[in-house]
Amino acid sequence: MREEILRLFKEADGEFLSGEKLSQLLNCSRTAVWKHIEELRKEGYQFEAVKKSGYRLVKSPDTLLAEEIKANLNTSMIGKKVAYFHQVDSTQFKAQHLAKEGAPSGTVVIADEQLGGKGRLGRAWQSPPGSGIWMSLILRPPISLFQAPQFTLLTSVAVIKGIRKIYPILDPVIKWPNDILVNRKKVCGILTELNAEADKINYLIIGIGINVNQKESDFISEIKDKATSLYITSGQRISRSKLVQAILENFEQLYHLYLEIGFSPIKTLWETNAISIGEYIEARTINGSLFGKALGIDDEGYLLLQDREEKIHRIYSADIEI
Ligand code: BTN
Repeated sequence: MREEILRLFKEADGEFLSGEKLSQLLNCSRTAVWKHIEELRKEGYQFEAVKKSGYRLVKSPDTLLAEEIKANLNTSMIGKKVAYFHQVDSTQFKAQHLAKEGAPSGTVVIADEQLGGKGRLGRAWQSPPGSGIWMSLILRPPISLFQAPQFTLLTSVAVIKGIRKIYPILDPVIKWPNDILVNRKKVCGILTELNAEADKINYLIIGIGINVNQKESDFISEIKDKATSLYITSGQRISRSKLVQAILENFEQLYHLYLEIGFSPIKTLWETNAISIGEYIEARTINGSLFGKALGIDDEGYLLLQDREEKIHRIYSADIEI
């Protein structure tokens, strides 16, 4: 019901809706409508109430409630189902649980705060309340196991495009394998996990963590030098749900492109937006460091690094120094 009320107010676009009209559209009493509006007020929504005209939505808070994300979302599959949590251990765990229970492809699991946010290579991911986007997408693409890393690359392109739409002044870039940097500091990390049998993927869980509205002082000292937020780099504080929508819409477009044409256009987009391609870099792998020229990526998402002897190494997992 609350979702429906918010949808109607968003569609009304700041115009008044009378209590009578709302109760007819929602098939409930005017007292029930009023109760829901009071509940929304407690969440931070501001309504103007005028006798005879009814109510109009004046201001929405920066929440990631399912209603906010779904309102005017221009997709046909991604984000049709949104599971919002105020506080979770990790959206990856919640998404895995929902996927096991049969959640449809395109389901978005999102939280305001994570207490046990997971990063790549077993690291922790700081996920404070009220300032970031911590979300996991459940996908069931008809692909084989070796193609799964392609979805991480596709996701970085979707995030880059989403950030550019909301912050045209920023110039985000991708750092292999899937970090998004602004001014050479990390604003977003992506973590893909999967469930498969033999060569068949049952589902992918793509975790996306974005530092949106944090201030400098919100970052713990260990990551201060390496991480930043979109607010720090742009000076603009935005509603997180708008950025989520832009990313989901771009994701769906790229997903259809992938299913229709394959990985090649995604690979080109990824390489166009990546830093260090064509440059000399150091890759720190668990087997030691490698220095060489980054040539690009292959179809399995490996980084191709050419050493001084012109030997080409395929690197699957490493930290890159640029
Ligand atoms: C990285 O190490 O760069 C990847 C970070 C991924 C963080 C996101 S936040 C949403 C999802 N839930 C998690 O626990 N991790 C991912």
